[in-house]
This record gives sequence, structure tokens and C-alpha cells, in this order.
Amino acid sequence: MVILLGSTGYIAQEFKKQLDKLNIDTLCLSREEYNYYDLETLYEIVRSPNRQFLINCAGFIGQPSLDECENNQEETHRANVGLVRTISKACKMTKTPWAHISSSCIYTDESGAKNFTENDSPNFSFDTNNCNYYCGTKAEAERVIEEEAESCYIWRLANVFDEYDGPRNFLSKVINHQMIFDANNSFSHRGDFVKYCLALWQAKSDFGIYNVVNSGSISTKEISEKINKYLGINKKFVFFESQRQMLKLGAIMAPRSYCTLSNTKLKKALHPTKLRTARKALEDSLKNWVEDKIEDNVISKSFWD
Ligand SMILES: NC(=O)c1ccc[n+]([C@@H]2O[C@H](COP(=O)([O-])OP(=O)(O)OC[C@H]3O[C@@H](n4cnc5c(N)ncnc54)[C@H](OP(=O)(O)O)[C@@H]3O)[C@@H](O)[C@H]2O)c1
Repeated sequence: MVILLGSTGYIAQEFKKQLDKLNIDTLCLSREEYNYYDLETLYEIVRSPNRQFLINCAGFIGQPSLDECENNQEETHRANVGLVRTISKACKMTKTPWAHISSSCIYTDESGAKNFTENDSPNFSFDTNNCNYYCGTKAEAERVIEEEAESCYIWRLANVFDEYDGPRNFLSKVINHQMIFDANNSFSHRGDFVKYCLALWQAKSDFGIYNVVNSGSISTKEISEKINKYLGINKKFVFFESQRQMLKLGAIMAPRSYCTLSNTKLKKALHPTKLRTARKALEDSLKNWVEDKIEDNVISKSFWD
């Protein structure tokens, strides 16, 4: 049985779907029913004899944009760092292997030239004193795991998209924002991300950090062109000149990270399975686009959530 923490979330739902397909039982932990922040409660759940693995999909990501984390720093820290410490303890006490969903946002390189590997130290963190609050907590959580956890995967997720239009989909954000910022980035197709994570676990790959991103990077400009081509919407996309301009115009409250990650380690671990390129995943998603007709589909005015 796999324990899924934060089970109502965007990423957790995809884990649930794919675990069901694999006929693997899941215990879905949601705050509404379980106080999984409490060590004793979590310990009692995790020590159940039929548990095999725990996946931590819980976190405070800030809605509608991660600027909400600037306004709710205590809650952000509690969910993204404090909870990780608690899970780490509960899993260590019960010898339960587990995985934590981290983020590419702990790195930044606006030039797009650097391909960050798992060996690079975060350069968008509280330590480097240049980050937004959310990204700072994601980098801090990785350090907590490295220092305190046993038998743990850190699965880094980049900007997420798939074919389902919605407020969390990067492509929907590009479509709906009035202005966008052009940068080269790594991407994780939501379904591919979960498929690759579960394959790592099922293959008993070594614990540690993995950049779970599709191969290659894509610029926001190319994405906007592909959106026009495949969805036939003929939108005139307007670009910010710089991040400084975004901050000055109040489009964002705190700096964002832009970066590309190397997935060489992931490729080696999953060999001979071929990883889909980000460009192919983008084109496939746009070809199979399922529009979200819900009217209160609120997408923040700011960019780079
Ligand atoms: N989506 C992205 O673009 C992205 C990119 C990189 C990394 N990540 C990471 O991936 C993980 C999952 O993100 P997600 O996109 O699935 O987020 P999400 O949709 O907001 O889900 C997170 C879940 O965490 C649980 N949670 C626990 N404490 C919370 C709190 N204080 N406030 C709000 N929710 C809380 C909630 O589940 P319950 O109420 O069911 O317990 C919530 O549904 C996070 O660690 C995030 O940092 C996401």
C-alpha cells in the first residue's frame, strides 16, 4: 500500500490515478480527515504493516500565485519545511521508504545556458538570499531531507502542463495572462512526471535526488507560437521586457526563477525506457487540448506561479 499525503492536490490526484491503474492500493491522506502534521498521528498511520511507501504531495504553493506565500510565510514554512521534518521522523521511526515532491525553482539562470544537475547546490534559496519565500522553503526542505531522512527520493518537478486546461496548467496560464515573460525553462508533463517517479520506485532505483523533467527546454515564446498554431487562437502575445519590469508594474511581488535542469540521471535510471521530450509533450498536449469551461477558472494576473 502507498500512502499519499496531500491527496486532494493537483499532483497527488495524478499519482492516485496512475497507482489505481497499476492496481496498487493507496491510502489517501487529506487534512480534512487526518491531522498528518501531528507526528504521533502520522506515526500510527505509517507504521501499519501493509504500508510499502509514502509519497509527500502536500505543500503550500500559494494560490492563485506563489506571491500568496509572501503573504503567508508562517503557513508556507509549516507546510513545506515543518511537515517534511515530521514525515522524515515518522518514516525513519518505522523504516518506511518515501518520496518528496520538490521543485526546479530552487535554481535560477535567466540566460538559460546552464543545465543544472542533481549535484548543483540550489542558487535560488534563503542561503543565496535572492529567492521568493516559496522557493526558499523548497530548497530548505531538500536540506532537511539530506540531513535528517533515510531511504528518501527527492523528485523535482518543473513547470507543469498537460492537455487539461485549468488554473494550474502552465499552458493555460500562457493563454490567459495579459502579458508573459520569455525565458527558457524545463517542463514536466504531469502524467509523464508521475509515470517516471513511479518507475523509479518500482525499479528500486537508488534513493536521492532526481530531476524529473521532460528532455530539453522550451522558451515561453515558442510555447506561445505553438499555442497559436495548434489551438488556432491567433492571440497577439505581449512580453515583459525583464523581471525588473514585472516587479515594477506589480505583476509579481517577489522574484521568480527560470532555469533548465538536466535529466541525465533520470534517463540512466530508467533506461531503456525513453523519456518524451518537452517539445513532443507540448505538441501532444496541444493536439489533445481539453478546454476547461468552468467560468470561475481564476488565473492570477501575475505570471510564473
Ligand atoms: N504544481 C506545480 O506547478 C509544482 C511545481 C513544482 C513543485 N510542486 C510541488 O509539488 C507538490 C504538490 O503540489 P500541487 O501542485 O499538487 O499543490 P496543491 O494542488 O496545492 O496540493 C497540495 C496539497 O497539500 C495539502 N496541504 C497540506 N498543507 C497545506 C496547506 N497548509 N495549505 C494548502 N494545502 C496543504 C492539501 O491536500 P489535503 O488538503 O488533501 O491534505 C493540498 O491539496 C508541492 O510540494 C509543490 O511544492 C508543484
